[in-house]
Amino acid sequence: MTIPATDSAPVPGAGRPHRVRAIATELRELRGALMPILHAVQAEFGWISQTDVPVIADVLNLSVAEVHGVVTFYRDFRREPGGRTTVRICQAEACRAVGGVALADHAERTTGLGFGETTYDGRLTVDEVFCLGNCALGPAVQVGGRIHGRVTPARLDAILGDAR
Ligand code: FES
Repeated sequence: MTIPATDSAPVPGAGRPHRVRAIATELRELRGALMPILHAVQAEFGWISQTDVPVIADVLNLSVAEVHGVVTFYRDFRREPGGRTTVRICQAEACRAVGGVALADHAERTTGLGFGETTYDGRLTVDEVFCLGNCALGPAVQVGGRIHGRVTPARLDAILGDAR
């Protein structure tokens, strides 16, 4: 997804709203376009801002309340910026059965962060995720694009230490 360059002059409204409008416009013909648009905005910016909502609503001819409702309904959509590194601990059934809950408790004890929270210095976010496709090697943890399997509290400490 790129915005075609027209000339070298500054684009009125450039910046995030302009880019969000471009993403929404590009994807609006998809069936059920709202979800792919929200995922695309989050993939690019890392979160969905309150200011993105009316832009997307306008492009899709939906009400702001409709778009806001979807953003707030799905936990997948972050409504604030995350840390520089996000550590996601799988909380789906298979991982919970082999220590995923204890791992989340351990993360909270050692970092002071509950799911969705970020350190004050903006370096680390801890969050939950529901199945990383690594169920046979649970509990699973994802950092960036990398998935770690059979994560023990000691390994989690090392992962969190690296993330800081
Ligand atoms: S349940 Fe955790 S990776 Fe599938």
